Amino acid sequence: MFIHPTAIVEARHIGAGTRIWAYTHVMGDVSIGSDCNIGEHCFVETGASIGNQVTIKNGNMIWEGVTIEDNVFIGHGVMFINDRLPRATNESGELKGADDWSCEPTVVGKRASIGSNATILCGVTIGAGALVGAGSVVTKDVPANAIVAGNPARVVKRGKS
Ligand SMILES: CC(C)(COP(=O)(O)OP(=O)(O)OC[C@H]1O[C@@H](n2cnc3c(N)ncnc32)[C@H](O)[C@@H]1OP(=O)(O)O)[C@@H](O)C(=O)NCCC(=O)NCCS
Repeated sequence: MFIHPTAIVEARHIGAGTRIWAYTHVMGDVSIGSDCNIGEHCFVETGASIGNQVTIKNGNMIWEGVTIEDNVFIGHGVMFINDRLPRATNESGELKGADDWSCEPTVVGKRASIGSNATILCGVTIGAGALVGAGSVVTKDVPANAIVAGNPARVVKRGKS
């Protein structure tokens, strides 16, 4: 395991062989498997889960409710979302608390890849082996092994690659 001296790592479980690079912050209650490579300037929030042999390039934020399965590739600057209808305050004008919002889980299936700068709306499952094109906006589930691209993301190809 390698943790760069500038990284802040509060998680208790990090698998063998995982590398975490400069200025990345991993909160507590996060599970990260073995042989992962997490690039610079990333943030992994409490409640996120990362499997084994996952590559996460620079500048990614992995929020509560996001599950990344084994062998996934996340390109740089992918935007995950976990709150579909965000508000700073509730209807009576008070600041929202931890119980005032609903986190919609997102799953990135085994050996899927997400191209750089894609936005992944919450509550979706990206199927195993799927590939999301750079800059796409994923609003619905992506079938296993499909290649999707565009805004909203649509299937452009199917089959293993
Ligand atoms: C989506 C992707 C995998 C498709 O690659 P491909 O299988 O070689 O497919 P093609 O280039 O033949 O494109 C197929 C169609 O999708 C379109 N397309 C490809 N990538 C697109 C994208 N990111 N957004 C919107 N449309 C895209 C092409 O214009 C083409 O449309 P057409 O049939 O109307 O001409 C690839 O373009 C891509 O975005 N890869 C991600 C790269 C990346 O971010 N890497 C991570 C860091 S290095």
